[in-house]
Amino acid sequence: MLYAVVNTKGGVGKTTTAIHLATMLARSDRTLLIDGDPQASSASWAAWRREANRNPSPTTTCLTGKAILAEGKALAEGFAHTVVDAGGRDSVGLRSSLLLAHQAIVPVGASNLDAAAMTDLLEVIEMAKDYNPELRVRILLTRIDPRTKDTADMVSFLQEQKLSVLATRVCERVAYRRAIGEGAIVQELGKDQAASHEMDALLAEVKP
Ligand SMILES: Nc1ncnc2c1ncn2[C@@H]1O[C@H](COP(=O)(O)OP(=O)(O)O)[C@@H](O)[C@H]1O
Ligand SMILES: [Mg+2]
Repeated sequence: MLYAVVNTKGGVGKTTTAIHLATMLARSDRTLLIDGDPQASSASWAAWRREANRNPSPTTTCLTGKAILAEGKALAEGFAHTVVDAGGRDSVGLRSSLLLAHQAIVPVGASNLDAAAMTDLLEVIEMAKDYNPELRVRILLTRIDPRTKDTADMVSFLQEQKLSVLATRVCERVAYRRAIGEGAIVQELGKDQAASHEMDALLAEVKP
């Protein structure tokens, strides 16, 4: 399965989602993580992970622009799963990721700003579907505060846009920030069971 974790907006949790998904998949199958963001946050995480000797790890590589589609397709053949962490702008890399993927996972926060920022992304996704009709697009609500009603409002907005929303909700938790800095995933640090359950639920939902 080829996954693209995409959003034109930065700071929504793309890298966090991509590294967790790729590492969880790597526990049972050969998995490739493509860092498609010129900021290379997934690659930094992978370097910290090597230093910390954590296993198993997804094989990690950096690709940008059109190479994500051309080289990504060839590389993915050697793996059971590929996860692309796609750049934060509406770039060639983002479009290439959407052409490559079977499943697009779109992390979004629950705020009016997140909703407003989705307009361009939706256009890019619609265009990608013309060329990649099999593409399955699923929204992942991230960094949410369960005490507010923002999430319910965002879900109504997404449903009005006829978007499919994953049942897994990822809350704002310190554990996610810590894990990245330690080259880990939240399950490996084992300090926040709620965070671990969220990531287990995400895997169960998106794995074929
Ligand atoms: N669920 C979360 N709870 C707390 N912090 C988070 C969460 N998801 C991401 N972060 C933090 O927010 C920042 C942006 O997340 P990141 O995954 O890098 O987003 P993106 O790749 O979309 O820019 C990082 O510092 C990350 O550790
Ligand atoms: Mg990122």
